[in-house]
This record gives sequence, C-alpha cells and structure tokens, in this order.
Amino acid sequence: MVDYQRTHTCGALRKNDVGSEIRLSGWVHRRRDHGGLIFIDLRDRYGLTQIVFRPTDHPEFHEKASHLRGEWVISVKGKVIPRAEGMINPSLKTGEIEIEVLEFAILSQAKTPPFSICDENITVNEELRLKYRYLDIRRGDVTKRLLVRHRAMLLTRNYLDKQGFTEITTPILGKSSPEGARDYLIPSRIYPGSFYALPQAPQIFKQLLMISGMDRYFQIATCFRDEDLRADRQPEFTQIDLEMSFGTQETLFPILEGLMIEIFNNCKGIKSTSPFRHMTYHDAMDKYGTDKPDLRFGMEFHDLSDIAEKSTFSIFLDELKRGNKVKGFCVKGGTDISRKMIDEHTLLVKKFGLQGLAWIKLKESGPTSTITKFFEEPLLDSLIKRVGAETGDLIFLASAPDKILCQSLDHLRRHLANKRNLIDPTRFEFLWITDFPLFQWDAESQSLACEHNPFTSPHPDDIHLLDTDPLSARSAAYDLVLNGYEVASGACRIYDSALQDKIFTLLKLTPEEINERFGFFIEALKYGTPPHLGLAFGFDRLMMILTETDNIRDVIAFPKNQQAADLMMSAPSEAQKEQLTELKIHIHDQEETK
Ligand code: AMO
Repeated sequence: MVDYQRTHTCGALRKNDVGSEIRLSGWVHRRRDHGGLIFIDLRDRYGLTQIVFRPTDHPEFHEKASHLRGEWVISVKGKVIPRAEGMINPSLKTGEIEIEVLEFAILSQAKTPPFSICDENITVNEELRLKYRYLDIRRGDVTKRLLVRHRAMLLTRNYLDKQGFTEITTPILGKSSPEGARDYLIPSRIYPGSFYALPQAPQIFKQLLMISGMDRYFQIATCFRDEDLRADRQPEFTQIDLEMSFGTQETLFPILEGLMIEIFNNCKGIKSTSPFRHMTYHDAMDKYGTDKPDLRFGMEFHDLSDIAEKSTFSIFLDELKRGNKVKGFCVKGGTDISRKMIDEHTLLVKKFGLQGLAWIKLKESGPTSTITKFFEEPLLDSLIKRVGAETGDLIFLASAPDKILCQSLDHLRRHLANKRNLIDPTRFEFLWITDFPLFQWDAESQSLACEHNPFTSPHPDDIHLLDTDPLSARSAAYDLVLNGYEVASGACRIYDSALQDKIFTLLKLTPEEINERFGFFIEALKYGTPPHLGLAFGFDRLMMILTETDNIRDVIAFPKNQQAADLMMSAPSEAQKEQLTELKIHIHDQEETK
C-alpha cells in the first residue's frame, strides 16, 4: 500500500527543517518545467511547498512528474533542502525551502476543473462556483471564512458554557413556529395528509425549556424559512439561539455583549467596549429612517417641519397640511455634488416613491438653491443651524408620508456614504434598538400582525393600550444592529397564559385556531412559568460582517442560490413516484392546475 500519511502540511516547513526527511500529500497547484528540472507547487489548505524533480536523481520519478496535471493528488517523501540564493520566495511561508524527492506516488488523477483553482485573481461566475462548490472551497477564499466560522462557534460554546448556559438540541421535525415566513413542510408517511414543519426558529421549544426549569439554554440552531431571499438571507441558516429565566434586559445584555466582544476580539482583533449604545425604535426611525442604522457615518435626519411651515414653499406646505413631515440632512463638503449628480440622487429616491428632492448648497458666496427664495433669511439661518451645516456643505430636504420619507432618505444616506467613501471598514458599531411597536398593520389581511413574534411581551407601561390602541403599544423586544445589519433579535416573553391568549385573539386567531396551533403551549404556560427572555443571533450574518463580505453565501459551505436552489445537488428535485404514492401525495401537472 502506498504510504500517504503526512508528516507535515504544505504550509509547515521552514528553514530550520532543512535536512529532515518528511512526507507531504496534497494537490498539484502548478507544474513548471525548467531546463530539465520539474517544479511542483504542492498545495493543501495550509499552504504551498515547492517540490523539485531532477532528471539525474530519480529519472523514473522525473518522467512520471512530467505527466502531472493541476489538481492531481500526489504524495511525496523527500528531504528538506534550502532554496538557492535568489530563488527564495519571501511571499510564501515555506519560501526558503524546497523538497528533494526520495519517493513519489500519484494517488489520484483529476479532470480539468471547470474554473481555475490556482489563479486567485480570476473572477468566477457564482452559479458555477456553487455548482462545483467543493472545488470553490478548494480555492481557499471560502475555506478562510469557514475557519473563522468554526472558531466563532467554538468561542460561542465555551463562552456560553462559562456563563452557565446549557446547549440543548431541539427537534427539526415539528409544528409551525411563527416567525413571519412561510414554513417548509415535510409530509408524513405514517399520517398521510399530515405534515411536519421545519423550525423557523426554536422559539417555542426554548420557552418550554424555561418552563422545564432549564434556566439558561442555548443552541447553535439551524432554521428554515421559505421567504424572499436577499444578499443577507438564506432559506436555511444558523442562529445562536438562547433564552434565560429570572433575568431582565439589564442582566442579559452584558452577557450578549460579552459574547460579541469575545468573538470580534478573538477572530479579528477588534476591541469593542461594553455597554453598547442604545436607541429606541422611534429615535432610530426618526434620525435614520431605519431600525438598523449604520452608525459608522453621520448624516442624521432632522425634523424641519416647524421651519418649513413658516416658509412659502407650497410643496412642503401641502405635505404638512396632509400631516406629513419635512426632513433634511447635511452632507459635509457636499457643495462638490453637481446638479447632474443631484438629478441621479433624485431618480434614486423616486424609486421609493418620493416625488422630489430639494437641496441647498452653502457656497462661499452664500446659500444657493431653487428653494431658498421661499425662506426668509432668519428662517433659512435656523434651518442651516438645525441640520448643523456650514459653508461647503449641502443640505437635502424632502417631505412625504412617513414610510416613503424614511425609506427614501435612508437609502439616499447609505448611497451617499458609499459614494463619498464615508464608511470606515475597520469600525464595528454595535447598537441596541429597543421599544419596538408590538404590532404592525397588515393591509392585506386588514388585521394586526406581530412585529416580532406572538410570544413577545408588551412593554409593561403599554399593556393598557392593548384594549384601546394596540398599534401604539410598544413591546419588550430588542434588536442588536451592527454596521447597518440586524444581527440579533429577541424579547422578554409573555409568561401569563391569559395575556398570551389575549395577544393571539388580537391577532384575529379564533379559539379553535389558537387551540390547534398553540394549545399545547398555552397549556404549558399554566404550569408555573418563570419570567424569561432571550434572543437569537443570525450567525451567518455575523460571520459575513466578521469576514468582510456582503454575500451570506460566502460564509456557508453549501449555500442555496437566490432562487433557493442547491445547484450542486440540483435540489429541490422531483420525488420518485413510489415515494409520492407512499405519502399519498398526488402532484397536479401544469395543465391540471390550470
Ligand atoms: P428573528 O426572526 O429576528 O428572531 O431571527 C433572529 C436573527 O436571525 C437572522 N435571520 C436570518 N439570517 C439569515 N437568513 C435568514 N433568512 C434569516 N432570518 C433571520 C437575523 C435575525 O436578527 N425566535 C426569534 C428570536 C428570539 O426572539 O429569541 C427569531 O428567530 O440576524
């Protein structure tokens, strides 16, 4: 049998190993033939080592090596020798040595890969990379991210264990847990016509564990959601899910902050300090138009309604009459933004429904704009002062219904930050958002829908609003935001079965539906439920930020594409006829459906 067990990896050998006999196994990264000498760069996930085949030493090995192709797997026993002066490669960890071959075996040959494995600089179409993900991982970039992911998981487990949290695995085959997306359903063979739902999150189980007295639970949990995909969403993703009893936000937040500090410090050398900043949902929407503001740059919004009201600018006056606000923000040094660029920005915000974008440039010669004539000088001065503008700056102003105004200005703010290079990639700005609304209005079903999930406790000061004005009630939910991403979300839970019942009723669930979907849970709440709260981190999203990519697929070994398909396995795929018969499932064909 060929001995292929390595004594070292391809990234390990250094000058002080010169003279030792070693064995390396790996992939042929490159082969170079130089005047009789054959050089092989041998690669594994740790690095590259140069192997030299001389025609004089072992002609049979030299001959065999001349047939080697990229990605063949070989094993080499050899002697570490120093590279000749002038041949040293300082950019390679093993660049001071090479291997003189004593024994050599080809372990497996390889087809020509569909894209280059050894050339880091070429861009390969992502669909092709996903189809051949195992080769893509071999290229190294995803490998580095998977290693960070592993490290972060290890740190999480150790950290939470030290904090007294127990990792408990909860079922994958279960019943729908309402987190706002569609369920993935699994048909049951034993109960034809019945389905398991894959967990959107282990929400109900972790609450049941609190009722069980498990105190402090965590799990690195796989969650499944059938929802529209975005660059930071996957149908199958990982959460660091946790829950604790007898705690408050004041006890939970420092634990969670400690975990983030541990991971970012250990994996990236970033030293964040606790406590993280806090902002209410209301303030975030008011100042940034979003509940996940990126705090690495300024340009906060200011309410200018009271000033605009005293102007003669009819567009703003009309909007104000409709009950809308006028808001504006200052772009430092923004007088360099040309009229053409302003027109482009206007087109951008129009996509979100904003009719127009007003602007004022504060030039050396004074303010210029098509709207300054509608503002008397003292009024204009107070506007400039309100947004904190100085000579050289530009002010953008707009008015529209709240949702449109928030969405468009948020988009414009982020667009400008990118365009003007205002984002410092070395900064990591954590921010807690608290006091979310408990409900939102679902126009489609003409009913209340929960903002987080139906187990979230109303804010203790707003319980009275449930009967009179539920849409104004705040909840005890919170999000952790990092650099403009929602990286975690959680809440204090309802632990009173009557209140839980009331929330379900407000969500227009009939007693039969409540009983059918959550009866077991309402029942459990009646057996002595401790006050409890928790949260789940989106682990993949965290890894995305940690490894500086904006594509969630980069941090997942075998991700789905934007259409929720696994291109490598061709999943989803049709089931076999026999499987469907066993499950008593009949598939309508297109014609039948019509
Ligand atoms: P939520 O639904 O907000 O809360 O999810 C928690 C965090 O998970 C991440 N996340 C996702 N990441 C990738 N792809 C997705 N499709 C996706 N959906 C969510 C986000 C989000 O902040 N059970 C509650 C948590 C709790 O209350 O304890 C829950 O799942 O980063």
